[in-house]
Amino acid sequence: MRIILDTDPGIDDSLAILFLAAQPDIEIVAVGSVHGNVPAPAAAENALRVLDIAGLHNVPVAVGAHRPLAQELRTTEFVHGADGLGGQAGPAPSRRPAGISAAEQIVTLARANPGELTLLALGPLTNVALATLLEPRLPHLLRSVMVLGGALGVPGNVTTHAEANMWHDPEAADLVFDSGFPDMTLVSLDVTEKARADEAWMAALAEISTPRAQFASALLKHYSDFYSRMFGFRTCTIHDPLAAVLLQDPTLAEYKEVVVTVELRGTHTRGQLITDWRNIVDDSDIESKAGQGRTPVRAATSVNTEAFLTRL
Ligand code: BDR
Ligand code: CA
Repeated sequence: MRIILDTDPGIDDSLAILFLAAQPDIEIVAVGSVHGNVPAPAAAENALRVLDIAGLHNVPVAVGAHRPLAQELRTTEFVHGADGLGGQAGPAPSRRPAGISAAEQIVTLARANPGELTLLALGPLTNVALATLLEPRLPHLLRSVMVLGGALGVPGNVTTHAEANMWHDPEAADLVFDSGFPDMTLVSLDVTEKARADEAWMAALAEISTPRAQFASALLKHYSDFYSRMFGFRTCTIHDPLAAVLLQDPTLAEYKEVVVTVELRGTHTRGQLITDWRNIVDDSDIESKAGQGRTPVRAATSVNTEAFLTRL
């Protein structure tokens, strides 16, 4: 499988990159950074650092959108550390980002490889939205898309109702869900919150002496320290690697087709995902039909946590 990765490293993004880089059946063709956990230029530098650690010295990394489509930039260093890597960034990466934007990179690669590339979006959807504006045929030029984010039937994480990647750019997310991608999978908090890294798993990782495992372990130490401060327990939700693992092996989850809309105006609910779970057969008398006419996405609804952690 050949993939374009869109990402905001970020602790869990970095774990996902390390996983993907180690898979013989996955080729990371290019990486785009996006604002989110840290600003887009810092996210690109971090992606280059993680690729260095993974030994991938030729994968291009393009800097993506510097701000959301319709709101001010908000980043979440309080979760991921001032450097986005839990204080583990270290020296500058071995090379510089590519000379084009992440959105242009997606469009250029999709046009050059029609029907071949899968897009894995692990951050806010600003670059993906911009790419669909640049190239309206994008949904049919990509093989498939997997999006990490949103909360369908569970609370949000950054606000009571919104998950971080949707909250960082609700307009971009809504545009992407309205773009008609025929093969889109959504890995939301509904499953990531059930696939937590427990202390035994983190301890086992810390025992592995390779530089990659030691780096991953140091990132997780920062992350579980944050969980301990914020929630009073160390077991932490490693969102992005779950999407990466499900990309490689979709059989580790179950799915349901849903139409998704993003709440754009709610005072307390901006960035919330709206889905209609009502199973109505005849909706002709109903006025409010959120997402009417949109292409459904395949949303993961349950996951085999043990198999996921073992694979990772
Ligand atoms: C998402 O938000 C970010 O903090 C993580 O990297 C992940 O992509 C989870 O809500
Ligand atoms: Ca992320």
